[in-house]
Amino acid sequence: MAALKIRVNPDPVLRGKAKRVTSIDRSVQRLIDNMIETLQTASGVGLAANQVGIPLRIIVIQVPDEDALVFINPEIVEKKGERLVMEGCLSIPGYHAEIKRAESVKIKAKNREGKLIRKKAQDLLSQALEHEIDHLNGVLYIDYLDSEDQLLKVDPEK
Ligand code: CO
Repeated sequence: MAALKIRVNPDPVLRGKAKRVTSIDRSVQRLIDNMIETLQTASGVGLAANQVGIPLRIIVIQVPDEDALVFINPEIVEKKGERLVMEGCLSIPGYHAEIKRAESVKIKAKNREGKLIRKKAQDLLSQALEHEIDHLNGVLYIDYLDSEDQLLKVDPEK
């Protein structure tokens, strides 16, 4: 496994719409392993394949004290509620901002074995699923801000 280079805004690969995965072959398995390694090396919560320059609909998410989760061709099928959350992104280093996200989401996706999975998520996992699926559609969390003034510098001490 190898950690990959994370593309940083305004890299155009972050603004494209990623393509559906049609075959979960060896190259896709290797990409998933490398994405997990990249996410863990960067101490992030989630990573979309286009953030490492590969425009495919694959995301990996790892919330604290849990194993890494892999979602291929993920789709949100239901969103409930609304809440304010602090959000950052590995492709926008050094900043975070408060935005609105759902309280819970239901998604469907394939796992890395190609099996259809459905999952209901809350809290950080729900937020991460929305954030990473946005990436696959070329959307960044800063798109939800009314003004750049809402973007806050992260305290490097934390
Ligand atoms: Co991000």
